[in-house]
Amino acid sequence: MALDEGEARRRLAEHGQEHVLRFWSRLGDAQRTQLLSEIASLDFALMDHLIRDWVLSEPKPETFSRVEPVPVYPVAGPDRADAREAWEAGCDALREGRVGLVLVAGGQGTRLGFEGPKGAYPIGPISGRSLFEFHAEKIHNLQKTFQCTLPWYIMVSEATAAETKEFFEAKSYFGLSPLDIIFFEQAMIPCVDEKGRFLLEEPHRLARNPNGHGGCIPALVENGITADAGNRGVQILSYFQVDNWAVKVADLYFIGYHVLHEAEMSSKVHRKTTPREPVGVHCVCDGQYRVIEYTELDIYPQLLETDSEGRPIHYAGNPAIHILSVNFVERVYEHFDRFPWHRAHKKIPYRDEAGQLVKPERPNGYKFETFVFDALRFTRHDPVVLEIVRPGEYTPIKQLSGDNSVESAWLIMREYWADWLEAAGCPVPRDASGKVSIKIEISPQFALSRDEFVRNLSGSKGPISEDVSIGPLGQCPLSFMKGIRETN
Ligand code: UD1
Repeated sequence: MALDEGEARRRLAEHGQEHVLRFWSRLGDAQRTQLLSEIASLDFALMDHLIRDWVLSEPKPETFSRVEPVPVYPVAGPDRADAREAWEAGCDALREGRVGLVLVAGGQGTRLGFEGPKGAYPIGPISGRSLFEFHAEKIHNLQKTFQCTLPWYIMVSEATAAETKEFFEAKSYFGLSPLDIIFFEQAMIPCVDEKGRFLLEEPHRLARNPNGHGGCIPALVENGITADAGNRGVQILSYFQVDNWAVKVADLYFIGYHVLHEAEMSSKVHRKTTPREPVGVHCVCDGQYRVIEYTELDIYPQLLETDSEGRPIHYAGNPAIHILSVNFVERVYEHFDRFPWHRAHKKIPYRDEAGQLVKPERPNGYKFETFVFDALRFTRHDPVVLEIVRPGEYTPIKQLSGDNSVESAWLIMREYWADWLEAAGCPVPRDASGKVSIKIEISPQFALSRDEFVRNLSGSKGPISEDVSIGPLGQCPLSFMKGIRETN
């Protein structure tokens, strides 16, 4: 509902936030309308609660009498009967069109220092394909194999919506049907300074941030996505993050276990290498499934304990790969007001009293977020928790160099794909320490697994001496591999 200036002043004054209209006399009509609409959309009761409990007082961490390791299904493979059964159930779910994909891409991705949405990052080491394109190619492959449609629901935020949509349009939706790529927008929430006062990013705009990936729960329901899924016969949503280059976008084993257990929400976990590795930890706290965020590890010292060989006892790291049943999203939406909020102390640019933009050098305020994994505590049956090995499943791009970076991801994927080439009879050059010494890139449209790669590799085989890029959009510099291009 439109708000007038008087009502805006009254509401702000009631909550000690009158300074938001500090520049009112300088604003033009369009700017005033913008600011009034931002004020109209504020949930003052929620903000008062967050400010009181998270800013003006030091929040008390939750205490648990028992924090136990989460029960985990071992890495799935064809050698185990239960996994074979899960695989079949996963295949059936895909074939019958019961699976949709949810990609969360609303985050601001500031750590990568990349202008534009993170999914547009050119991660392909040879082709420069973007993260979005890799995910799209995986979808192509699965749709072709299973003769199905995998609707791709992409969560964006005010921070990423316009650029993400433009990117997809400019790339002709990577050859997928635009009818099956559905963008939906999550809500934003104001940031506050250390006294709990709203900050202004512009004289007519509040400093706000997307409300965390937990915001996908209300966004999926309120934007009609769960309804769209229902109309298409989709019952299961395979959830992944934009920054995970290697993610299996609809893993058959994972989907199968979820289906066979009639789970409402399921999660993959990977073995943490060190107790302080910056990933969340899946555990069971007083009987409830939880993920304790890496920033909160010191509150629960048992999560840092190691065995006699120095390995974390609570090893179940969170690669942020989940499955959510559509019914569960609709049910948990009813409890969204019980989702915990998490705060982050951040450097938040703001306008000072003179209207000048200040870019602080140390944290000056708080951002609030909800997390999707907090839905786990609302499940009625135990979630399926499936262990994965990282290569080929979890290669996140959080920064340019160091751990979980562009550089480390390139090296990991190179070793991973070298194994495929060698299995197909194409040895790759390695340095004295055994590390692959060429760049390798394989299109997910060509193969999603080593077995598929070996099957699809036709033509003559032999040792490789130069960089290799294989796939419909790549270059294939080696003459003996020409057959590869011809198969596409
Ligand atoms: C996240 C997980 C962490 C996990 C790690 C795995 C959280 C709080 N932590 O950490 O447990 O081990 O990934 O890589 O998530 N996003 C939105 N909207 C938002 C915020 C984020 O869509 O409002 C999306 C981002 O676009 C991104 C993903 O969520 O795809 C993760 O966000 P990010 O802030 O990078 O999480 P991490 O701190 O890396």
